[in-house]
Amino acid sequence: MHEPRRFPPHPELSARAHAQPDIYAKAAADPEAFWAEWAQQLYWEKPFTQVVDWQEPFARWFADGQLNASVNALDRHIAAGKGQRIAYYFEGERGDRRSVTYAELLQEVCRLANGMRKLGITAGDRVAIYLPMIIELPVAVLACARIGAIHSVIFGGFSADAIADRINDSGCVALITADGGYRRGNVLALKAICDEALRNTPSIKHCIVAQRTHEPVHMQAGRDIAWSALIADQPDTCTPAVMDAESLLFLLYTSGTTAKPKGIIHSTAGYLTGVSATHKLIFDYHEDDIYWCTADVGWITGHSYVIYGPLCNGATSVFYEGSPDFPERDRWWEIIARYKVSILYTAPTAIRTFMKWGDEHPARHDLASLRILGSVGEPINPEAWMWYREKIGNGRCAIVDTWWQTETGAIMISPLPGITHTPPGSATLPFPGLDIDVVDEHGTSVSEGVGYLVIRKPWPSMLRGIWGDPERYQATYWARFPHCYLAGDGARRDAEGHFWLLGRIDDVMNVSGHRIATTEVESALIEDQRVAEAAVTGKTDAVTGQAICAFVSLRGGANGSSELAAELRAHVAHSLGKFMAPKYIMFTPELPKTRSGKIMRRLLRDIVEGRTLGDTTTLADANVITELAQRAQQERASEAG
Ligand code: PRX
Repeated sequence: MHEPRRFPPHPELSARAHAQPDIYAKAAADPEAFWAEWAQQLYWEKPFTQVVDWQEPFARWFADGQLNASVNALDRHIAAGKGQRIAYYFEGERGDRRSVTYAELLQEVCRLANGMRKLGITAGDRVAIYLPMIIELPVAVLACARIGAIHSVIFGGFSADAIADRINDSGCVALITADGGYRRGNVLALKAICDEALRNTPSIKHCIVAQRTHEPVHMQAGRDIAWSALIADQPDTCTPAVMDAESLLFLLYTSGTTAKPKGIIHSTAGYLTGVSATHKLIFDYHEDDIYWCTADVGWITGHSYVIYGPLCNGATSVFYEGSPDFPERDRWWEIIARYKVSILYTAPTAIRTFMKWGDEHPARHDLASLRILGSVGEPINPEAWMWYREKIGNGRCAIVDTWWQTETGAIMISPLPGITHTPPGSATLPFPGLDIDVVDEHGTSVSEGVGYLVIRKPWPSMLRGIWGDPERYQATYWARFPHCYLAGDGARRDAEGHFWLLGRIDDVMNVSGHRIATTEVESALIEDQRVAEAAVTGKTDAVTGQAICAFVSLRGGANGSSELAAELRAHVAHSLGKFMAPKYIMFTPELPKTRSGKIMRRLLRDIVEGRTLGDTTTLADANVITELAQRAQQERASEAG
């Protein structure tokens, strides 16, 4: 675990960087003043006079101020004479392109916002959004923000049941979707998935349908309306709703340790403060940059660093619809060369996939425009970090490995590119103004060593709770250690104070940067009548970080087969989403349990990782585990062979 390499910032980058070395001491001396200064850079309808009000575990930031998020993302730049700047270079998977200026984006947002108002959608209503990566997605998000409706974006990979659950949890009144989308050359029939979901969503009054693929779709009279029809007569200006700083901006569901996802809620002003400050300082964003965050807007990274962060800073972004290997494996590098992208923000899974595909793909393109390379979503191993630095960054670029979560809203631990001497594989230091610590099981700070990652003070972009479930909010994040937010990650702090993220400490897996609870997959598996019991665990995977591995026992002691495994995979894909289907399924007559009947997950993890088995003395039947371990070993041998 010793990593002696350090990469100092490029002198040119340091010289003009927004963040200079005194930023840490200044922010530490008065964190509230630091955040207030960033908040003041937003456009306020009514300026705030209070900074933070902390009634643990509930924070209110800038609470007596008023503002509108869409005005901060759009109108402000137009008022400053920058309406003709490009907000997004849209690149369709099939090669169609479109540049959208700030002025045009605002017009589209206003027309949709007016249309939504005409339907009776109003401030505080929840609106679900299930769209592919097309410009209508940021338009829909910002149109909600304009009228004060709370958006709940659902990632386009989720199934009908998953959509219905999310809609019902918060009682959404409308759903915005599209006929379909393109992915790796295929058409995804999104509206058909929505039709299935909408059979069980009594709160939905309207379904707005954008056109992307132009394939025919079912339109239910009285409920469904084409996006184009809705906005046809709408003016391209729209008075923004004036919102309180603490009014909710959005809901975003993420996996916890139970089968029921948590609706994480974020407020307006604190969130915008966090994302705009971090976007500017961590990516050292300047007006001449071309910025590309490859995340899907369906996840928090897309909310904070495709939409709100870059738009609040008036940035020009690339917005790509499709997959990295369509039509060829050099698609991203071709895009970077064509738009002269200078800041790239992506995930370790993507980096490791490119490593596997081979150096020749990036090598064919001119990547000299790049200056900052970001990583997010999973721990990045030093090999992938070095490859990113050398093969993509040509040894010149700053690498920023950024740790954060849906709950934190904005990046929390990261290098600052003009300052930090970066070791490969470490997210390095807490962002200025934050109080982050590593503690042992008693909650005592570990100055050097391994422990639980906690946050000791409220921060502006922190979650404001879990939709409809304040007890779960308290129990999940604030109960383990007194007065500390529990992140759910393990971390090591080294002698220089650098943080090394070690992965989740709970029953949450991280597959390609997607957060998935073991229990979600288990409960989908046992929906199949033939399954008696299922236990799911993550298995280390060279590309995706972790892969989902399921142990399944069948009713009546039946034997499994590869056909049944395929059917179970298909069932999970249908019930949750394809990206949540287990890669490995191992049938077993019984699951390893304690004498009191508790499944011993720790042992299952040892088995899949091929580790020496931990303590088995409390097992009810030790034979089960021996047999499973032998079979897992055989499978590893045949995989390796
Ligand atoms: O385990 C950490 C991992 O992703 C989790 C948060 O997942 P999600 O809410 O989906 O947000 C992902 C994008 C912000 C964390 O608890 N994680 C995120 N970034 C890193 C990371 N693990 C290690 N290093 C990172 N840079």
